[in-house]
Amino acid sequence: MARSSTRYKPRLAFLTFLSLTFLSFGSAQSGSDILQYIDPLIGTVNGGHVFPGATLPFGMAKAVADVNGEDQGGYASDGSDITGFSHMHDSGTGGSPSLGNFPLFPYAACPNDDVDQCKFPIADRASPRINGTVQAHPGYFAITLNSSVQAEMTVSNHTALYRFTFPETPDAENATLSPLILADLIDLPRSRMNGAISVDPTTGRIAGNGTFSPSFGIGSYELHFCADFSGAAIRDTGVFINNREGTEPKDLTVVADGIDTSPEILPAGAWTRFHAPKQNNQILARVGVSFISVAQACTNAETEIPTFDFNATHASAVQAWTNHLNTINVTPGPVNSSLQTIFWSGIYRASISPQDYTGENPLWNSTEPYYDSYYCIWDSFRSIHPLLTLIDPVSQIRMLRSLIDIYRHEGKLPDCRMSLCKGFTQGGSNADIVLADAFVKNLSTTIDWPTAYEAVLSDAELEPKNWAVEGRGGLHSWKTLGYIPTDDFDPYGVGPFTRSISRTVEYAYDDFCIALMARGGLGPLSDAAKYFARASNWRNMFRADQNSTLDNGTVETGFAGFLQPRFLNQTWGFQDPAFCSPLLNFTSCYLNPDGHETYEGSAWLYSFFAPGDMAALIATLGGPETFVQRLDYLHDSGLLYIGDEQAFLPVFLYHYAGRPGLSAARARSYIPALFNTTTVGIPGNDDSGAMGSFVALAMMGLFPNPGQDVYLITPPFFEEVRIRNAVTGRTATVRNEGFDGGRSNVFVQSATLDGRPYTRNWIGHAFFRDGGVLVLTLGREEGMWGTGEEDLPPSLSTDYHT
Ligand SMILES: *[C@@H]1O[C@H](CO)[C@@H](O)[C@H](O)[C@H]1NC(C)=O
Ligand SMILES: *[C@@H]1O[C@H](CO)[C@@H](O)[C@H](O)[C@H]1NC(C)=O
Ligand SMILES: *[C@@H]1O[C@H](CO)[C@@H](O)[C@H](O)[C@H]1NC(C)=O
Ligand SMILES: *[C@@H]1O[C@H](CO)[C@@H](O)[C@H](O)[C@H]1NC(C)=O
Ligand SMILES: *[C@@H]1O[C@H](CO)[C@@H](O)[C@H](O)[C@H]1NC(C)=O
Ligand SMILES: *[C@@H]1O[C@H](CO)[C@@H](O)[C@H](O)[C@H]1NC(C)=O
Ligand SMILES: *[C@@H]1O[C@H](CO)[C@@H](O)[C@H](O)[C@H]1NC(C)=O
Ligand SMILES: *[C@@H]1O[C@H](CO)[C@@H](O)[C@H](O)[C@H]1NC(C)=O
Ligand SMILES: *[C@@H]1O[C@H](CO)[C@@H](O)[C@H](O)[C@H]1NC(C)=O
Ligand SMILES: *[C@@H]1O[C@H](CO)[C@@H](O)[C@H](O)[C@H]1NC(C)=O
Ligand SMILES: *[C@@H]1O[C@H](CO)[C@@H](O)[C@H](O)[C@H]1NC(C)=O
Ligand SMILES: *[C@@H]1O[C@H](CO)[C@@H](O)[C@H](O)[C@H]1NC(C)=O
Repeated sequence: MARSSTRYKPRLAFLTFLSLTFLSFGSAQSGSDILQYIDPLIGTVNGGHVFPGATLPFGMAKAVADVNGEDQGGYASDGSDITGFSHMHDSGTGGSPSLGNFPLFPYAACPNDDVDQCKFPIADRASPRINGTVQAHPGYFAITLNSSVQAEMTVSNHTALYRFTFPETPDAENATLSPLILADLIDLPRSRMNGAISVDPTTGRIAGNGTFSPSFGIGSYELHFCADFSGAAIRDTGVFINNREGTEPKDLTVVADGIDTSPEILPAGAWTRFHAPKQNNQILARVGVSFISVAQACTNAETEIPTFDFNATHASAVQAWTNHLNTINVTPGPVNSSLQTIFWSGIYRASISPQDYTGENPLWNSTEPYYDSYYCIWDSFRSIHPLLTLIDPVSQIRMLRSLIDIYRHEGKLPDCRMSLCKGFTQGGSNADIVLADAFVKNLSTTIDWPTAYEAVLSDAELEPKNWAVEGRGGLHSWKTLGYIPTDDFDPYGVGPFTRSISRTVEYAYDDFCIALMARGGLGPLSDAAKYFARASNWRNMFRADQNSTLDNGTVETGFAGFLQPRFLNQTWGFQDPAFCSPLLNFTSCYLNPDGHETYEGSAWLYSFFAPGDMAALIATLGGPETFVQRLDYLHDSGLLYIGDEQAFLPVFLYHYAGRPGLSAARARSYIPALFNTTTVGIPGNDDSGAMGSFVALAMMGLFPNPGQDVYLITPPFFEEVRIRNAVTGRTATVRNEGFDGGRSNVFVQSATLDGRPYTRNWIGHAFFRDGGVLVLTLGREEGMWGTGEEDLPPSLSTDYHT
């Protein structure tokens, strides 16, 4: 998804090899050493929308400073003002900001020692930061407000722990140190429908709840919190509403009044004021969160962080990240250390979501894990889940079980889901691909595969009433005509009647993945035949004589044959193949009622999408040579925007034309030029780490064709990469021979697997499950390795016979 209003024209992506300045001939990296290479601030401005705060891998509590600037991930490196510190977030989203409920805001004192002179409403209290004070590391975030109050934060799974350090002399006039901390019944998208809050005058505990809207979906969710304080005696307590406060009563509830419907909802909350802190001018604030109840929010906090021990909580978080990352081990060789930062930070960002809400699901009781913030699977199926399959199969399996459990209880698999709500579907039913990917990789025998198969069949066969949030629309036409007509007649369900081309090619691939599951034994062979047949439906919107020109018809691209709109009566419509590329009306194909026939991309781009049958696509587009020319043109002309996920696989499609060296060179044209270590270092929305997982897999040299047991081999960006499978304990090693840091030896000349010659340009998941050593010998010219027909990855028309 890339729905950000701040979109940037990519520059033309010509091949630019690395210029090497700082070389580090580092030794093997693993464990805690690698945390120094993680920079959570990458992508925190210009549309990356990365959450840079404190979190555990896949944790529910995610603490950071919230800003009034580009606040999708809470914080942004844009110099905007800080409005508070909140406990839950999503990362990299393109829609509205998510979560950010119940922020705290600290004052060292109120002017004239008068509580009423502190500012309570979010717009009034927003404070500049002191430039240069932000610190972001795995499990830790800190920043200092203009008032000289420093806020540090760390987390456990469901609890945020803040350490506020106050200045000896408050910046409030006529006052000595007497801190006040308020909690606000608000969230980042300003979606509160109702809320309740109370403060305990003895302990200072502030607890409450509210009903809010999800950021890219339908319905609502209830969230609860419980804030306790440590480090100072309680002075007084109270609540606030609008811009007034009082010490009585000790609780309030707010509902929508029906008149004020402004997005800046009625300020309301509670506060606790303290005497001067006992030590170091510090007060600790511990905030438990829960989707179940206030009582559970308090229990979460009390059990996870019983003694408010900031250092120990931080140390546990560091340990959790160290453990999570220690399945990967890199010997960098002669490369710039910034490449290591890009790599490890990418993996880190891909490990923030989906979020583990097991035990926190109020919607149904189950012994299965419950994960949320699949935000969105349209973004994550291509690289996040395949990356997790390699580096954390244990979590990946829990996520799959959770997806199947969502199907059991909601009746459909999600394509997007956040905050307990159904999120918007952007194209196909992509959970089908995630499930097929795990099935063909034989990831787990503990997954309930019969139910998984039932779930994907439901996507393929049963149109839901609202296919904007689950399943597929247009299934009647899909089954009878073999494509989604641009003027579809679909009285069976509702959803945006747009994206007929991109939905057609995505549904075709979803069906291909279902066929793989059937063929693997989950269904009868007749199912495999049926879905393999439907997998070719992309051909039905392919118009062979469609040409493409650029620049108002002044430039002939020279390529013929593109996906085009097609009507119910089988005649053709027209959408300029370049439309919705960066070269023509780039932003006209978003998910709204005015969208067009290709989602967030052009027909030029979608004409490359037949990942199940690349052999047939290449033949359709005129054979390998023309295909390579067309793919080069896509990348070099500016038609491709690498900041949206559909662009990932086209970097590596050269493999299918027998030119794996071109994939390797192409990956290096984008990394690090457009994926780098700066705060703007992500070309589009990170989308829960999708961009991060793309760079990680590309730099490991093992890009997946998701849904299939296929990894396309390119030389890693490091001398050697080792991946230990946490389930089997085996290690897969990929080693570059003749590695010069990527200066010129970027082409594989020959390869061996466990000492024997290996000529295929792809490898299956058994390599990772069972372990092995893949040695790639590099040279400066594109070699013959992996170019033969028998070396190519499988395709439906050439390799799958049912
Ligand atoms: C802090 O940085 C922002 C830009 O990020 C700038 O606008 C502001 O002037 C700086 N403030 C100070 C005090 O330097
Ligand atoms: C920030 O703090 C300084 C000194 O503490 C003060 O002079 C300045 O007015 C403050 N800036 C804002 C925007 O509040
Ligand atoms: C957090 O939850 C995960 C399960 O998702 C669990 O494995 C881990 O031990 C928990 N971490 C801590 C610090 O409790
Ligand atoms: C601080 O106290 C002085 C003396 O009473 C008073 O003149 C001044 O207005 C006070 N400052 C503020 C901000 O109220
Ligand atoms: C929210 O808290 C109020 C007051 O404590 C309580 O009455 C109400 O039931 C809670 N709401 C929900 C949805 O739990
Ligand atoms: C926490 O760690 C910091 C440095 O890491 C140290 O200065 C401080 O004394 C520690 N605090 C406690 C309470 O252990
Ligand atoms: C789950 O079980 C708990 C405890 O038995 C019960 O209070 C709750 O209502 C159940 N929730 C659902 C959604 O069935
Ligand atoms: C497309 O271009 C080819 C060659 O330039 C030309 O022969 C053909 O007529 C064109 N087709 C259409 C539909 O314009
Ligand atoms: C194409 O035509 C439009 C409208 O006539 C004009 O605004 C635009 O600048 C032209 N673009 C090019 C690349 O010539
Ligand atoms: C087919 O349908 C399209 C769209 O409704 C319409 O414009 C066109 O005239 C129809 N063509 C025929 C031959 O019926
Ligand atoms: C494409 O963009 C141009 C200029 O920005 C605008 O006039 C035109 O309406 C757009 N076309 C569509 C179909 O959105
Ligand atoms: C870093 O990446 C961003 C986003 O792709 C790009 O705009 C910028 O030019 C890159 N910066 C450098 C120094 O390469």
